[in-house]
Amino acid sequence: MREGNSALFELEVPLPDTLLTAQAQRLVGFRARYERMHQNLRLLIDKDGLEAWSKKYYRRHIALIDSLLDRYPLVVFHGDVGTGKTATAEAAANALAEELGKDAMLFKLSTQVRGSGNVGEMSTLINQAFEIVGKVAGKAKLSFLIIDEADSLAASRSGNQSHHEDKVAVNTLIQKIDDVRRFSGRVLVILCTNRFDALDAAILRRVAYDEEFCRPDDAERRELFNLDCEGLGLTASVIDELVELTGPQGPHKLGFTFSDIRTRLLPEALAHAYPSRKIDHGDLIKAVSRVTPSPSVETTEPRK
Ligand SMILES: Nc1ncnc2c1ncn2[C@@H]1O[C@H](COP(=O)(O)OP(=O)(O)O)[C@@H](O)[C@H]1O
Ligand SMILES: [Mg+2]
Repeated sequence: MREGNSALFELEVPLPDTLLTAQAQRLVGFRARYERMHQNLRLLIDKDGLEAWSKKYYRRHIALIDSLLDRYPLVVFHGDVGTGKTATAEAAANALAEELGKDAMLFKLSTQVRGSGNVGEMSTLINQAFEIVGKVAGKAKLSFLIIDEADSLAASRSGNQSHHEDKVAVNTLIQKIDDVRRFSGRVLVILCTNRFDALDAAILRRVAYDEEFCRPDDAERRELFNLDCEGLGLTASVIDELVELTGPQGPHKLGFTFSDIRTRLLPEALAHAYPSRKIDHGDLIKAVSRVTPSPSVETTEPRK
């Protein structure tokens, strides 16, 4: 099943998954980033592999393995909206399952888990989600849980704007993250957030690994245009111009995000041409002038 189970999960998919493998191939920089992260992620979720390694090289279970598994299997992907956190979290879980050669499930917690705000409802949903995630791990499978837009769930309990219901939910989440250590080596929780600093201190303390996502630099925007405009017959100088026009601009010197280009600029250009003709240079330039870079969360929202 891809579509999530009821209100709980937005995505619920057995890994490895061919669609996610294809998704990774269309993510600029994914391979390099995965190469950089995978050993760190692997040490959090490869209990069986670590045991085998210990037996092979030390002929017994060494203490270091227990220390490793004492950590919380919690990682955070943070950065501006549209920089690829969610897409990378999904693709990385898939790549890890593939690399470890194990059956796995990927769950993505729906942000609607916030529910209607009735006291206890959010906590109940978090409890249910972790119960399902734990069941999978109990069957010796790997179980990945992505908590998307985590700041809406795990925001600091200390701010003025923190309501009772939110505090209860953060407490539940912390409790559940503590509990999944029982399965450590089989469950990995990935929080994605636009506002790293807004996460609760107790959550931050449990983070074993964090990865920052930035807006694409010139080379990355070039790669994205080359990937997405393949077959349009654009010359190298047109691509250069697009790279230049989508670079850092405005008072905050913000460039276009990956998603600004892929999901706003290019569809806008296509809309000028479709259905009567090919996309031309003018369509692209017009589209660039109509789309502005997404604001940065840090520069638009004062810290609480
Ligand atoms: N590295 C990337 N390469 C190509 N496209 C990307 C990349 N990162 C993000 N995108 C595009 O932007 C969209 C939004 O990405 P997403 O992962 O949801 O961003 P975030 O979770 O950081 O807000 C993706 O569906 C994809 O089309
Ligand atoms: Mg996201």
